[in-house]
Amino acid sequence: MDNTEKTVWKGSALTGPVPPALVVCGTAERPNVLTVAWTGIVNSHPPMTYVSVRPERYSYALIDGTGEFTVNLPTSSMARETDICGTLTGAKTDKIKKCGFTLSPGTRTGVPVIAECPLSLECRVSQKLDLGSHTMFIAEILAVQVASRLIDSKGKLNLQQAGLLAFSHGEYFALGRKCGNIGFSTK
Ligand SMILES: Cc1cc2nc3c(=O)[nH]c(=O)nc-3n(C[C@H](O)[C@H](O)[C@H](O)COP(=O)(O)O)c2cc1C
Repeated sequence: MDNTEKTVWKGSALTGPVPPALVVCGTAERPNVLTVAWTGIVNSHPPMTYVSVRPERYSYALIDGTGEFTVNLPTSSMARETDICGTLTGAKTDKIKKCGFTLSPGTRTGVPVIAECPLSLECRVSQKLDLGSHTMFIAEILAVQVASRLIDSKGKLNLQQAGLLAFSHGEYFALGRKCGNIGFSTK
């Protein structure tokens, strides 16, 4: 078949790969975590991210209530825990205990971060958009916590060594082969 030929479907929420983020919400005393694939960066200065959450999720009221959450990126060795946090509800299960996560305090938010995740973003909601099935919480990234072992002697972050987990069309993946650095095509 001609490799430029396309099949046209009706519009759907289809993209990939994305990070399956572990979003911690609630308070330090009563935290919860859910897995969110609909997340990303939406602004550089100030640094801003979003999470899109269905109002029927237990976590929705927690995020809405405190206006804070942390985005924690799991490693490929955490695929099972990531799936658990995306299939069980905090209304019935203590997912943090079940997954054996270690929580450490937020530095700029009252919401903790997951110590086992190499990268955590501490976020404060600035806008809320009801889009239909999901509500998009747009948030400022107030602080970033990154695993010290990934920072070399020159202060450079080697995120490629983190072994981050990816999610694409219902499947989890470990990141594959590096194919370039930003700007390499025009150097
Ligand atoms: C890989 C993956 C990605 C998910 N992405 C989202 C998402 O972007 N938004 C959302 O509302 N739910 C998403 N979910 C579903 C929630 O994580 C799931 O309903 C979870 O049990 C909610 O937890 P809670 O009831 O403790 O809030 C995802 C689940 C998985 C497994």
